[in-house]
Amino acid sequence: MLIGGEGHKAGQGGDTTERYRRLERDARERFGAESIEYRWSTQDYVTVDGLPYVGRLSPRSENVYVATGFGAWGMTNGTAAGVILRDLICDDGNRWAATFDPYRKTVRASAKTFAEENADVGKRFTSDWASGLRSGSPASLAAGEGDVMRIEGEPTAVHRDRKGELHAVSAVCTHLNCLVRWNTAEGTWDCPCHGSRFGVDGDLIVGPAIEDLPRREVD
Ligand code: FES
Repeated sequence: MLIGGEGHKAGQGGDTTERYRRLERDARERFGAESIEYRWSTQDYVTVDGLPYVGRLSPRSENVYVATGFGAWGMTNGTAAGVILRDLICDDGNRWAATFDPYRKTVRASAKTFAEENADVGKRFTSDWASGLRSGSPASLAAGEGDVMRIEGEPTAVHRDRKGELHAVSAVCTHLNCLVRWNTAEGTWDCPCHGSRFGVDGDLIVGPAIEDLPRREVD
C-alpha cells in the first residue's frame, strides 16, 4: 500500500517529522497498516500558469532545450515533452509547442500566482533575516537537531549529528540570500523562498541554487 499526503512548499513544512507521524497514524488507523517499510518525500516544480515549460532554453539557444515544471505529473507531461522536443529538434512542427513554449506570455493565467509567490518570497526573506539574526549557541542543540543562529555576526546553520559532532555552514542560501531552515525528517537545510536544499555540510542537493553553502567553523 502506498499512502501520500502532507504536501507543502519546500522549507515551509514546519516540523516535517510530525508530518510523517500523521501519515503513519492514518495508515494504521484507517487501513490497519502494521509496519511502515519505507518513507520518502519528493519535490515538484510548478510553473506560474500551471503548464510545463518545454522547448528551447532561450529564444537564442539553438541546441539547448528544457523540459520542466511538470507539477508532479511527470509520467504524462514527460512523455508529451519528449514528443515536443523530438519534433522541435527534427524541425517537424508540433501543434503543442507554442502552448508549452518556456517564453510564452500568459499574463492572465500567471499574474496572480506570480504576485503571490513573490510576496511570499519577500515575506520569508524579511521575517527570516529578522529572526535569524538572533544570537544562539550550538551548545543548546541536542543530537539530531539543527537551527539557524548568529555566530560571530553571521547567520549560521548548525546541526549536531547523532554522534554529537557539529556541522556548521552559512545559513544564507546561495541562490538569492534567503535563510535556510532545518528539515527534521530529511536532515537537510531547505530554503523557504524557491526550494533549494542542501546537506548538513552544505552540499547542494537540489536547485535553483547552483553552489554549496560555505562551511563555517564553530566551537
Ligand atoms: S533564495 Fe534560496 S532558493 Fe531562492
